[in-house]
Amino acid sequence: MREVAGRVLIDAARDAAVHAHAPYSHFGVGAAVLLEDGQIVTGANFENASYGLSLCAETVALATANSQGHFRDIVAIGVIGGKLGKDGSLAGSALVTPCGRCRQIINEAVQLGGRDIDIYCGSADGEDFAHFQASELLPHAFGPADLGIR
Ligand code: THU
Repeated sequence: MREVAGRVLIDAARDAAVHAHAPYSHFGVGAAVLLEDGQIVTGANFENASYGLSLCAETVALATANSQGHFRDIVAIGVIGGKLGKDGSLAGSALVTPCGRCRQIINEAVQLGGRDIDIYCGSADGEDFAHFQASELLPHAFGPADLGIR
């Protein structure tokens, strides 16, 4: 069951990566956020000529969920990434797991939502798959709860 949910999210993330704006790294990433009502919200990485301003796919998807009023309703996230083809396809055998900054942003949703979040990562070639809990990727996290925000 968990693997089925993960595959659905990774497929949605792959579709989202078609819209990656990654002319600098040529590395496309897609993320798909599952809400508790079954809706899926997606995002793709969004680079900038001032490289350090680039946004990861996970951050874009989480901010989009927030903009729709659903930041507290997130139950799972799927992530996929790889070398970006001209047609938006992804290539590669490595898993992309959320970067450190994204883990901190995911933790914001964990604490405000009051539940751990499942994170599914799939390789572009479809050969590799992994499941993590957000708390596993960012243990002993500092977050809104430490500032009295719920
Ligand atoms: N990237 C993501 O979108 N998510 C991650 O978890 C890792 C990295 C993006 C940032 C940049 O646009 C490209 O991948 C190469 O680092």
